[in-house]
Amino acid sequence: MKIINVVGARPNFMKIAPIQREMEEHEKITPILLHTGQHYDEKMSKIFFQELGMPKPDIYLDVGSDTHSRQTAKIMMRFEEVCVEEEPDLVIVVGDVNSTAACAMVASKLWIPVAHVEAGLRSFDRKMPEEINRLVTDVLSDFLFTPSKDGDENLKKEGIPDEKIFFVGNVMIDTLLKMKENAKTSTILTDFNLEENNFALLTLHRPSNVDVKETFVGILNALNEIQHRLPIIFPAHPRTQKMIEKLDLTEKVETMTNFHIVDPIGYLDFMKLMMNAKLVLTDSGGIQEETTVLGVPCLTLRENTERPVTITEGTNELVGVETENILRAANQILDGVSKRGRIPALWDGNASHRIIDIIAERFNLK
Ligand code: UD1
Repeated sequence: MKIINVVGARPNFMKIAPIQREMEEHEKITPILLHTGQHYDEKMSKIFFQELGMPKPDIYLDVGSDTHSRQTAKIMMRFEEVCVEEEPDLVIVVGDVNSTAACAMVASKLWIPVAHVEAGLRSFDRKMPEEINRLVTDVLSDFLFTPSKDGDENLKKEGIPDEKIFFVGNVMIDTLLKMKENAKTSTILTDFNLEENNFALLTLHRPSNVDVKETFVGILNALNEIQHRLPIIFPAHPRTQKMIEKLDLTEKVETMTNFHIVDPIGYLDFMKLMMNAKLVLTDSGGIQEETTVLGVPCLTLRENTERPVTITEGTNELVGVETENILRAANQILDGVSKRGRIPALWDGNASHRIIDIIAERFNLK
């Protein structure tokens, strides 16, 4: 059985890694690893392949950055050629980036079955490009592998038949649990002169937060107060770095002397930072889940989340983007009041194994 595993952007790599590995060990599956090139910088892509022990992609589409429609269209044009040439039995897409929806669309139009890993998540906010990608991908997929039960419920409400939905757990946590010991050997704390449990970690890259000056400034005002209490380390996504310049915010951030903007960092260093942070502030999806498993308090700087289980069961708190609200929540944690949380069901390191098992059964490989 020939399966194309699609990756495109940074959060895809840690989700495909355990699936690709399981497939390589299966005698009846030939995985083809395809990278669309949506993310291409060494620090956004290559370093993850190295650290996660992933093979070099078999196929690279080299699409690069562009507007949403142009990027999606380029991926579709190039991926269609690959599908026609390779004739895969199944295409696997993960997460909610443009590469996910583009490849799901191409495969389903060629009648190639599609499996979506991390299906069913909904923020119910269509202003988020990822929400559109989730909706499109899920409606087209033949196998919907969900990370949490809320995903199953969302899909059922949208009319997806039960027999297509499989609650398997969280593949990203497969990678986290596998790499946790390795991450402990990272020297990032000494490199950045940080003390264990005495710094805050920030990531911020959503267009709604960093492309709108008023919102970005509101968030920075809160961070300005927080950095008076403890250092903030901020590995900044390239788009955020560009927006700081474009919105004329360079001077403002330079006056915040305990606020340290650094380039994007690799998986192991980032995990080491998360494990040792007093608090994490983020607008990322995956980090809400990783902090829940690591038991580290997380404040999500968004109005909604597609990952509600990290709030109901985990250490995540949705605080929005207003200065006062961010500050109040951060101060509470710094004063010693934080959520404890528990690890959600099936976030146990075996999600990818369950996925391959289901595929093997459905395609009579057993
Ligand atoms: C994408 C995903 C988002 C995910 C994020 C993780 C979509 C719609 N969004 O957002 O869900 O959370 O990845 O990083 O797919 N750039 C570089 N180098 C790179 C890649 C991008 O400099 O390797 C810059 C370019 O200026 C580009 C901008 O970042 O225009 C945005 O990149 P893009 O892939 O369009 O979206 P992300 O914001 O990365």
